[in-house]
Amino acid sequence: MANPGEMFNGSVVAVTGASGFIGAHLVARLCALGAQVHGIARSTLTFEHRHLHSWSVDLGDYAKVESTIRSIRPDYVFHLASHVMGAPDLKHVLPAFHANLATTVNLLTACAETGHGTGRVVVTGSLVEPPAGELETIPSSPYAAAKWASSSYARMFHALYGLPTNIARVFMVYGPAQRDETKLVPYVVRSMLAGQVPKITSGQRQIDWINVADVVEGFLAIAAAPGIAGQSVDLGSGHTISTKDFVVQITKLMNLPLQPEFGALPDRPLEPLRTADVERSYRQTGWRPTVSLEQGLREVIAYYRGEKA
Ligand SMILES: NC(=O)c1ccc[n+]([C@@H]2O[C@H](COP(=O)([O-])OP(=O)(O)OC[C@H]3O[C@@H](n4cnc5c(N)ncnc54)[C@H](OP(=O)(O)O)[C@@H]3O)[C@@H](O)[C@H]2O)c1
Repeated sequence: MANPGEMFNGSVVAVTGASGFIGAHLVARLCALGAQVHGIARSTLTFEHRHLHSWSVDLGDYAKVESTIRSIRPDYVFHLASHVMGAPDLKHVLPAFHANLATTVNLLTACAETGHGTGRVVVTGSLVEPPAGELETIPSSPYAAAKWASSSYARMFHALYGLPTNIARVFMVYGPAQRDETKLVPYVVRSMLAGQVPKITSGQRQIDWINVADVVEGFLAIAAAPGIAGQSVDLGSGHTISTKDFVVQITKLMNLPLQPEFGALPDRPLEPLRTADVERSYRQTGWRPTVSLEQGLREVIAYYRGEKA
């Protein structure tokens, strides 16, 4: 496999969703590797680096997407922009459709039309998508439906138009500086630090959690791996843990006299049980996760405490 350090040094890379949780970590890593990074989001990026160019673009607008790609002329594209809401509510249907599916179709079309992204175009899928072969699975949310459809488009653009796409099928991510602080890990840690009891579902759901640093290395490995264009690659830990055990592990590491309240929130219907196939990911890309859950959670807790891990 190619060495990402050598491969990305001096290359032109577009990262959508660059103001978001995973996007910001990916941008920082690419800048450190010496890539010329073009971070795209609707908002202006709040961080700076001499290798970073910030683009404020709504990727739902095809004309703007095409002119942005023509201006950037990227070798590699990482598409992370999304409406990241896995709740089943009707109010998420249109935002998920626009921010996930329309942005993906616009970006893939712009790359195919302009001939850019020939290094690789990596779109971000999700654990909520079924593995290959499960055709009749019912999506668990508007987000799941939009992600699944986006991945189909990515495969189609590779098969029909020769665009070298991949789908990074990302499992549940945790790490420092998560933008949406209502998500489980920042919510639990911040509640505990504020002396408030975190309110949780029954905690029965089994989830495959992956550290953001591992996800970033996974994205780079996918873009660097030869001979896998058109394929999905799982980026997860390969292990599941119940939400209850996961939250209890956080609270034990925090060592505060507070216990979360399980059963205080309703469980979501149709939540799929999925585990990353990390052996397949390794065969495809040479990538394996390296951060243990305990080490990763200690880093997040230290981040919210304002300490160094
Ligand atoms: N976090 C997880 O556990 C997880 C798990 C599986 C998959 N994923 C996937 O990983 C990717 C990154 O997730 P994240 O947690 O980092 O999300 P996030 O923090 O919510 O960031 C979402 C990003 O998308 C941008 N965005 C949304 N709509 C846009 C539009 N129309 N045009 C341009 N930019 C737009 C947002 O910026 P503005 O608001 O400034 O536009 C932001 O930068 C997503 O594709 C998500 O579905 C995440």
